[in-house]
Amino acid sequence: MAEHRIIIDTDPGQDDAVAILLALASPEIDVLAITAVAGNVPLALTQTNARKVCELAGRPDIPVHAGCAAPLSRSLVTAEHVHGKTGLDGVELPAPTMPLQDEHGVDAILRILADAPAGTVTLCPLGPLTNIATARARDPETFARAKAIVLMGGAYFEVGNITPAAEFNIYVDPEAARDVFASGVPITVLPLDVTHKALITPPRHEAFGALPNRAGPVVASWTSFFERFDKEKYGNDGAPLHDPCVIAYLLEPTLFTTRHINVEIEVDSPLTRGMTVADWWGVTDRAPNADFAGDVDADGFFNLLHTRLARLP
Ligand code: RIB
Ligand code: CA
Repeated sequence: MAEHRIIIDTDPGQDDAVAILLALASPEIDVLAITAVAGNVPLALTQTNARKVCELAGRPDIPVHAGCAAPLSRSLVTAEHVHGKTGLDGVELPAPTMPLQDEHGVDAILRILADAPAGTVTLCPLGPLTNIATARARDPETFARAKAIVLMGGAYFEVGNITPAAEFNIYVDPEAARDVFASGVPITVLPLDVTHKALITPPRHEAFGALPNRAGPVVASWTSFFERFDKEKYGNDGAPLHDPCVIAYLLEPTLFTTRHINVEIEVDSPLTRGMTVADWWGVTDRAPNADFAGDVDADGFFNLLHTRLARLP
C-alpha cells in the first residue's frame, strides 16, 4: 500500500493542475479520488479541468467527482483574472473523454473515509474548503476518521492576495475554513508565507519546458500564463507555485519548516473576512490547532517537482 492515500480537493487552476500531476507522478501517493470545488473558476470548469489533467497524466482511471458549486453561505468569488476564463489558460487541452463520476464529491469523501481503515486517508484541499466543511457537517464521526488535512491556504507574514487581509482559498469560503480548522483533524497549512518563496523563476520555467515529454511543456505553458498576474503585482522574477507545495510536503516534509500554532479564521468583518489569524508568536492562550508552514527550501522543492514531472508521459 502506498505511503500516502489521499483525496485531492481542488479548483483547477494551473497550480492545482501541477499539484495533481506531481501526485500522479509519485509512487508514494495513491490518489483515491479527486473532488472538484468551485473556486478559481465555476464548478463546471473545475471538474472538467481536473479530468483534463488526469488524462494529460495518462490516468483516466482516477475517479473525479464534482462537489459544491458555491460557498456554504456566500456568493462565489472566482479568479479568472489570474487563471483565465477556462481556469487552465496557457495551452489548449482536449476535452476530457473520461467520465465524471455520478457520486457527489462530498459523498465520495465520506464513503472513502468510511470504507478505509481509520487514520489512513489524508485530505489535500487545494481550493476553498466548501467540500471539506460540508463533509464534516454531514457526518462528523466519519470525517474524524481522516488521518490528516494538508491544505494550501491562508497567510500570516505574507498577508492577503485577494484582499489586503486574506488569501483566496480562505476568503472564498471563510465559514468553511472556520469549521475545518475547528474539526480536530490534524491540519498542516501551506500558506502564502511559503508559496511566495516557491517562485517559478526563468531557469525553473525553462527546465519545465525542456522536459522531453508532454507534461513538462504543458506545465511551462500554464506557468507562463499564470505568472503574468503575480509578476506584475509583486514585481518578482517568477510567480508563486502554490498548490504543488501540498503534495511536496507529503513527499518531502523536511523541505518545509512548520510551527504548531493556533489559527483562527475571521468571518465577521467585511474588511478582514477570510484572514487567517495565526498566533505565530504564541501571544494568546488559544490552543494550537495547526502546523503552519513558515519556510521552504525552494531549490529542493523545484528539484523534486522537476524530477517527478519528468516521469510523466
Ligand atoms: O491563493 C492561492 C490559491 O488560490 C491557490 O490554491 C490557487 O489555485 C487559488 O485556488
Ligand atoms: Ca487552488
